[in-house]
Amino acid sequence: MRFTETWTPATVVAMRDLTPGIREFLLRPEAAAASPYPVGSHIQVGVTIDGRPETRSYSLVSEADPQGYRIAVRRAAESRGGSRYMWSLEPGARLAITLPTSLVQLDWTRRHVCLVAGGIGITPIVGAAQALARRNIEVTLHYAVRSRGDAAYLDELEALLGRRLIVYASDGNNRLDLCAVFAALPQDAMTLFCGPMRMLDAARRAWESAGRPMTDLRYETFGSSGLLPTEAFRVRLRQEGVEIVIPHDRSMLDVLNDAGHEVMSDCRRGECGVCALDVIDVDGAIDHRDVFFSARERQESRKICACVSRARGTITVDTLRRADTI
Ligand code: FES
Repeated sequence: MRFTETWTPATVVAMRDLTPGIREFLLRPEAAAASPYPVGSHIQVGVTIDGRPETRSYSLVSEADPQGYRIAVRRAAESRGGSRYMWSLEPGARLAITLPTSLVQLDWTRRHVCLVAGGIGITPIVGAAQALARRNIEVTLHYAVRSRGDAAYLDELEALLGRRLIVYASDGNNRLDLCAVFAALPQDAMTLFCGPMRMLDAARRAWESAGRPMTDLRYETFGSSGLLPTEAFRVRLRQEGVEIVIPHDRSMLDVLNDAGHEVMSDCRRGECGVCALDVIDVDGAIDHRDVFFSARERQESRKICACVSRARGTITVDTLRRADTI
C-alpha cells in the first residue's frame, strides 16, 4: 500500500492532561471539517526539534469526531524531541498535519475480538473498542500499564466496556499473562495489539504457541520503542566508503537523506519496508523497531528499516545511491 501524504494546516483547539505524563490534543484542520477515518488511523504532525523541521506520527484516538483529530502524546524521557515539542504547545498553536491513513484491518465478521494495549498503545485501541462495541461484536480489552495512575481513558473505557475492560498494573503485582489470555479465547477470535516492541514480541510468541494463525494477530507499535536504549550509533556506507554518525535524537533515514544519500521511504513508521537497507556487517547490535520484518528476519538482521530502527556500535549497509548520480 502506498501512503499518500496530503498536508494541511491545523490549529490546537483544546488540550487536557489525561495522566501526569499523557496529554491529549484536539487538532482542527483549517480547510474543512475533520474527515471520517477507519479504525487504527494515524496522522503525521510537523514538529520542530532544535530548529529543524521533522515529522512525528500519532494514532488518532476515538472514532471520527467532526470537531477535529484527537491525539495523545506521552512525555517521554527517552524522547527524540517530538513529545517535548508537542508538550510545549499552547491552545491556538498552528501545526501542519496530514490526513489520516490506516494499515490496520479488522475483520468485522468475527464474533469476538480481543484488544491488547500497552501504555500509550491505548490510543488506537480506544477507537477500535468503540467501533466493535457499536457493531455488537464481543470485545475484551486487556490494558497493561506500569501503575493504574498511568492509564489514560479509563473512565471512557469503563463506561463503554464495563467488566470487559481488564487493567493490569505491574506495580500492583497484576501482570498481563498473554499466554493465558490467548489460550482462553474462542477459536475464531482475532486480536488487535498496540504496545511497545518488547510486549509485541511476547504477544507474537504467545499467539504462535497458542496455535493461532498469525494473520489473526494484527498489531501496531511505535518507532520510539526498542529493546536497546536510544543512543547515537555509526553507519558505514560500503559503496561510498564513508561513515556517518546517527545522533540519538534523529532517525537514520533523515540523517542519510540530509547527507545526500537517497533512501526511499513511505510510511516512516516501520510498517511498509520501503526504507529497508541491506546490512553487510554489524559491529554491535541492531535494534529492530519495525513491524514489517518477521521475527526470523529480525534475528537474521540482513536488512534494517532506516525510518525507525537503530543500532548500538557500527553497522555497515549497502544499496545506497548518491543523489547526485541519479
Ligand atoms: S518507510 Fe515504511 S518502514 Fe520505513
